[in-house]
Amino acid sequence: ADLSGFNTFGLKARAARLLRLRSAEEAVAAVHAPGWADAPRLVLGGGSNLVLTGDFAGTVLKVEIAGRRLMREEADAWIVEAGAGENWHDFVRWTLMQGWPGLENLSLIPGTVGAAPIQNIGAYGLEVVDRFDSLDAVDLETGACRSFALDDCGFGYRDSVFKRQPGRWLVTAVRFRLPHPWQPVTRYADVAREMEARGVTAPTPLDVSDAVIAIRRRKLPDPAEIGNAGSFFKNPVVDAAHCARLLADHPAMPHYPQADGGEKLAAGWLIEQAGWKGRSLGPVGSFERQALVLVNRGGACGADVARIAQAIMADVEARFGVRLEPEPVFV
Ligand code: EPU
Repeated sequence: ADLSGFNTFGLKARAARLLRLRSAEEAVAAVHAPGWADAPRLVLGGGSNLVLTGDFAGTVLKVEIAGRRLMREEADAWIVEAGAGENWHDFVRWTLMQGWPGLENLSLIPGTVGAAPIQNIGAYGLEVVDRFDSLDAVDLETGACRSFALDDCGFGYRDSVFKRQPGRWLVTAVRFRLPHPWQPVTRYADVAREMEARGVTAPTPLDVSDAVIAIRRRKLPDPAEIGNAGSFFKNPVVDAAHCARLLADHPAMPHYPQADGGEKLAAGWLIEQAGWKGRSLGPVGSFERQALVLVNRGGACGADVARIAQAIMADVEARFGVRLEPEPVFV
């Protein structure tokens, strides 16, 4: 099967076998089918956080499990469930229309509901972990179904137990805990600025969603138009002394103090300073409006992505002594 249409980077690759799953039962059946244990497998949602480095010799499991509903209302929260195959942004907008806000800061993130907890997607002051209730998954080694509560997921910055054990868990449904009364999250500078520009003083959930959509459209390439996988590197955390040394030379460098005393730096800023913003190496380039995003300028393969990623990492390390870590999953 051709995977070009199944990864938002638009990288050319083929899979030996593609299996579309419309229910948890179909996933369990796949695990018990003859030959399962012998072939490598890859779970695919929207394919928006993926770098395909070559053809895949095993089974690609395309999760297409649908469904969304209010499970229950608690004294201080709505618990809303969606099938793993639902489109993330459509689900977010649907919850807002239903009057169950809380996910609006995560508007317009590409991908599926099932993929959201894998890398704990986050943007504009909110992460999935902040609104997570629980999820259901199939163990692809045994075929057993299991529920994960918040504490079982080991969520971190763009990280979870699921991301750390590739190919082990197939998420089938996710439940979100949307607290009420609703409180807007507008502490992120870009969001606050956008609200001000729109003359909004008491934002509704839709106002926040619309503002986030506008900011993202301005800065980030639409994967439907230009192949990309969102931020290509994580924002690195350095110790306070390292940050102070860098600030001495670059007083305007963005830095965000962390709970553990470290400082999170903006990878996009480091890449821009290293001269890579808008620059290409072969068919892959750093996006001209947000250096942290690598884009496919046409016909790229995984090796092209790896080549520019390594060049950027080497330059940033030489200049700032900071090792960047790629954010998407390499297959
Ligand atoms: N910056 C530059 N040059 C650039 C890009 C950014 O100087 O080319 C500076 C900005 O001016 C700003 C700082 O770096 O001072 C941070 O930039 P921005 O607000 O655009 O966010 P980011 O840190 O680059 C992160 C997430 C995004 C998320 C935004 C908004 C990561 C790896 N990325 O980007 O997530 O949308 O914050 O919350 O944490 C993704 O994970 O795929 C993603 C798009």
